[in-house]
This record gives sequence, structure tokens and C-alpha cells, in this order.
Amino acid sequence: MPLQNKISRAQRLQIGGCDADELAETYGTPLICYDEAMIRDNCRRYMASFARGGNRVAYAGKAFLCLAMCQIVAEEGLHLDVVSGGELYTALQAGFPAEKIYFHGNNKSHAELTMAVAAGVGCIVVDNVYEYQHLKEIAVQNARPVDILLRVAVGVNAETHPYIMTGHLDSKFGLSIGSQELDSLVADALKAPSLSLLGFHSHIGSQIADLNAFASAVDALCVCVRRYLSLHRWSPQELNLGGGLAVPNTAEDERVSIEELCLVLSETAQLHSDALNIAPRLTVEPGRSIVGPAGTTLYRVGAIKRTSTGRCFVNVDGGMADNPRVALYQARYTCSVADRADEPGSFIYTIAGKACESGDILVWDHPLPAVQSGDILAVHTTGAYTYSMAGNYNRLPRPAVVLAKAGQARVIIARESYSDLTRLDCSL
Ligand SMILES: Cc1ncc(COP(=O)(O)O)c(C=O)c1O
Repeated sequence: MPLQNKISRAQRLQIGGCDADELAETYGTPLICYDEAMIRDNCRRYMASFARGGNRVAYAGKAFLCLAMCQIVAEEGLHLDVVSGGELYTALQAGFPAEKIYFHGNNKSHAELTMAVAAGVGCIVVDNVYEYQHLKEIAVQNARPVDILLRVAVGVNAETHPYIMTGHLDSKFGLSIGSQELDSLVADALKAPSLSLLGFHSHIGSQIADLNAFASAVDALCVCVRRYLSLHRWSPQELNLGGGLAVPNTAEDERVSIEELCLVLSETAQLHSDALNIAPRLTVEPGRSIVGPAGTTLYRVGAIKRTSTGRCFVNVDGGMADNPRVALYQARYTCSVADRADEPGSFIYTIAGKACESGDILVWDHPLPAVQSGDILAVHTTGAYTYSMAGNYNRLPRPAVVLAKAGQARVIIARESYSDLTRLDCSL
């Protein structure tokens, strides 16, 4: 997986064949730029290494979703994982086939479940008993049984930031493996005429580079399968193994390829399937590893300030509002000056956002060539969980998003305007 976009011979940063400075000039800053070919290539690598024999790849829309992204995912033949009524609405507006959608979430509302069933969503991943009961009632109105998976907290503590760990038993997500609750839901779902239990889902967290953790999650899920096979003589049609592959954001970060992950997941599952004499379809749900490396955020440098302690702050025109990941879970990034991207970093700078928070720092202590006000600063590998987590803190409008390919760029999300900021406000 390339850590950052191509640097041309002229030492100017290129994104999807477009000059980064020119993109910033044309579309303004902050600007999130995606390399379309890289997104498609990542989709194809997952499909080539995992989607054989009926297995599926579902793109996790929470990493980045908009109409164009849904269209790319559909064109590349992936399924889609959505996690809210808003994501579902986006997918449907884009014409994404409802039957290829998985609907996730740990607190889906009655309205969201009703919307999903009415739309004919392919599979609802049930997180808890409360949701299960609601869904069972809603599904009675449906012409055919609603396909469900039960989300299981498999008790695997993968090494990642605690805020993006989800497979541990103390997690807010899913039903604990081996619990009475899970036993009762399986028993009930197997009898419920309005529901069709396809199998189980597990997702142990995000930004994980430990292949053993992924293998352990499959092992645990298969312990669960063995239990219900012996209790009910029932074997699942599907095991959904979640997403979570890490993206290297800095040179020190560990690298695990899409192919390595897919091999470990499919081989581990195959061993269990052979031992249990079952043949479930497998699904993976990558988000970050599809869009993360393909995104670069361009900012314009404003004030440059050296403190009396010697730290030099380069202030840019965005920050935690368009990329809350640093403030939220200490994400680390690399950056470069767009028009001299491979010049040696002779100076150490801290890149500060413009929000009124001391914690609004995008990159700490990064080597760069001498930076000047007006330069375009590129923060790399910002394609996942940035725009999708962006907000309007300090009433900062959200940036535009462009998709670049073969030297051509097009806007896929327009820049918010000041009037957008007051659009929903009501005067006294
Ligand atoms: C249920 C589920 N599936 C898939 C993903 C995607 O994870 P990642 O973007 O790390 O691949 C997430 C992310 O949190 C998730 O909650």
C-alpha cells in the first residue's frame, strides 16, 4: 500500500495525475483529494483475494460515504455496509442495490429499522436484544423473512487505540460470546417466521496490523458456530468477519497487505469449516484500507509562529473540524509541502489547525523544508474517517472533496458555504 501519492520528477506532489498546488488553486482549501485509481485498485485487490466461491467484500461506508463513493463501490461489485438511516439514504439515493447492503449499528432506531426493511436491505446485523425485538415486530409486516446476522463480541483484544477497539467483552457492540442472551436470541431467531438467521458477525476494531488478532477472531466465531451446531443442529450460511486492517500513516507503522489479511481470514475460516463440515459464505467489511491511503488533505499555510520554547507552529486553514482523528485518538500522519514534496526536511514544524482548541494539532514535530505562509501543505493518508467525521466546530464550513484520475479532477462533494451554516437555524 503506498504511503502517499506520487511525487513527480519536478518534486511537485501529484494526486491522481493532478498537480496538488493546482488542485488547491482551482478548488480552494482545505480540500480533500482522492486518487480514484487507488480506491478502485484497493477494491479490486479485496475482490481478487477474497470474493471467490460466493464470498463477499462489503465496503464500510462509515470510512467515507457520498453518492460518488457509493457509485464506485457498486461499479467495483462490492457490497456496502451502512450504519445509520443517513448512510442508508445516501446509498439508496445513489442507486446502490438495496439487496447488497448490510445494515449495522448498536442503537438502530425503530424508524431506521422500518426504513431498512421497507427498502429491502439485504441483511440487518442485529446488535442487541432490544433491537432484535423491534425488528421481529417490524419484520412481521414484510412479505418475506428478513435476513439477519447476530453481532458477537468475540472477546479478542486487538492492539489498537481503545476508542477503536470493538471485539473485547467490555465493548458496547454486539452480544457477548457464550452469553445467555446470545443463546436465547439464536434459539428464538431459528423459530421466528419473520426472520431468517444467516449467521454471525464480528468486528474487532480498526487500524489493526496484527494478523493473529484477526485469526483469533475467526477462531472465536467458529467456537460460537460449533456451540449452535451442537445445540440446534444448525449451521450458518454466512460468517461476516468485519473490517479493521491498518493503514500505515507514518514510515514506522507496521504494514500488512490486503492480500495477507484476506489469506489469513479465508485460510483460518476454511480450517474450521472443514473440521465442522460446514460451508458458510464469508464476508469482509473493509473501510479504512480502501479509502485511507487514497486521500490527501490540502491546506494553505497562514501564520507561522515560533514560541519562546522553540516550537515552530505552522497554522493551516483547517484542522480538527475536517479531521478530528488526531484530537480524538491521537492519529499520526505525515505531511509535505506540495511544490517541493521530496525536499529534505531540515526544519521541525508542528502543524496546527485553526480551531480554538489547544488540542487542534494535525501533526506534531514533523521534518519539512523551510515552510512559508501561502504554501500548500499536504497531509497524507487522510481518506478514511476524516470527511465522514468532520463537523462545523467554530462554524467552519466543511471542505470540498475532489476525485482525481488520469490528470482530471471533479468535485464529488461541494464546499460548504457560510449560508449552508445558517440554513437550519431559526431566527427568534
Ligand atoms: C461493523 C464494522 N465493520 C467494518 C468496519 C470498518 O473498519 P475499517 O475501516 O477499520 O476497515 C467498522 C469500523 O468501525 C465496523 O464498525
